[in-house]
Amino acid sequence: MALIEWKDEFKLGIAEVDHEHEEMIELINTAHAQMQSNASAEAVSDFLGEIYAKISAHFALEEKMMRDSGYDEFAQHKEEHEQLLDEIRDLMDAYEDGELLDNEALAMKLHAWFTRHFRTRDARLHQKLG
Ligand SMILES: [Fe+2]
Ligand SMILES: [Fe+2]
Repeated sequence: MALIEWKDEFKLGIAEVDHEHEEMIELINTAHAQMQSNASAEAVSDFLGEIYAKISAHFALEEKMMRDSGYDEFAQHKEEHEQLLDEIRDLMDAYEDGELLDNEALAMKLHAWFTRHFRTRDARLHQKLG
């Protein structure tokens, strides 16, 4: 079963952003499924790196849209992005240092973060810019 079920209600109506949201969710689901199947340490590092790269590229796109339009809640929205990236980076560092990765905890965290962020921050962004 997919970790994060894509729902139409997540759609913001900005084609570029919706496309990236769907892609991101797909990547997270794939990484989660692969990590459950006894992946090697190297594979886990690669998944984490891929997730991190995809998510930060997406955040950069949204932040550019906000900056270009003088969006009023830019700082708060960006801060939420930064917090998630920090947490993923910490997990990657801990993993590199030999700590076990709690795959389920990571999965739950991503799931909770994205569903909340889509419904609140990203939805508001769309209302203002859309
Ligand atoms: Fe987003
Ligand atoms: Fe966002």
